[in-house]
Amino acid sequence: MSDQDTPHALARAGPTVTRVVEAIAETAPEVRGGLAGRRMYDPEADENPSGERQLAADLYADELLEDRLLAIDGVGGYASEEREELSLADDEGYHVACDPLDGSSNLKSNNAMGTIFGVYDAALPAAGDHLVAAGYVLYGPITTMALAVDGHASEYVVTDGELEPDAVDLTIPDDPVVYGFGGRVPDWTEDFAAYVDAVEDELKLRYGGAMIADVNQVVTYGGVFAYPALESAPKGKLRLVFEGAPIAYVIEAAGGASSNGERSLLDVEADELHQRVPVHVGSAGYIERLERALD
Ligand code: AHG
Ligand code: MN
Ligand code: MN
Repeated sequence: MSDQDTPHALARAGPTVTRVVEAIAETAPEVRGGLAGRRMYDPEADENPSGERQLAADLYADELLEDRLLAIDGVGGYASEEREELSLADDEGYHVACDPLDGSSNLKSNNAMGTIFGVYDAALPAAGDHLVAAGYVLYGPITTMALAVDGHASEYVVTDGELEPDAVDLTIPDDPVVYGFGGRVPDWTEDFAAYVDAVEDELKLRYGGAMIADVNQVVTYGGVFAYPALESAPKGKLRLVFEGAPIAYVIEAAGGASSNGERSLLDVEADELHQRVPVHVGSAGYIERLERALD
């Protein structure tokens, strides 16, 4: 089967990555089913390594994913934004990084959120060029998974923990439509604010507080999402290993582009497990313009 004929992303995955993807799909109904009673801050939890309070749902999803993923032969390590240290099951094998619940502040307001995962072929922290697969489960009106493997991105409906076979090819459309930028307007840098002035004349605002839900709009309709560097936080808010690199891997496989302001997020060195990075992803033209604006 030629490169173009390979039907979808999962068909390009080897046996271990396939098992990882299937395990994450299997947890989706359990995560989704466990959200209703876990909307409150966990009284026992203090803060996650990024200094954010943890919902009971964050910890529930994290423990479920660690348990299922470390049980897979070929997975040697699990890390998440909710825990300080890497959990090791073996001194070799893939390392899986998860954001167990991205956009968990949307739980209280019952808005979309999801699970981000990245499969690295190196010990974490590792740069995005060590990703062999990445994706996200989106808990929207329906549960879907976006998955990228070997430069190909596909979307699957997840039904009862199974990926439906009729995958949809994920290719970011040529004509961009939506934008969404995080952080407070007065906290944006001057150069970024000037970029926004131009973009908001061309696209329409779609920002919902969960990166993957906002990114899924960008992949579906074309456009740009950013959680940029802020005056108060020069590295922005989002984490490279758990959010920026995996999402960049999906977006670039879908024909889009990513940037930390200077280069692809896949080329940003990962020195610390929880390091933050400015995230800009979407239609290539808007990312090129973003890099020129910040230059
Ligand atoms: P998480 O819930 O995993 O910490 O992620 C939340 C992130 C990201 O999903 C979203 O883009 C951003 O935080 C929203 O931040 P604001 O609430 O500052 O808009
Ligand atoms: Mn997140
Ligand atoms: Mn999270």
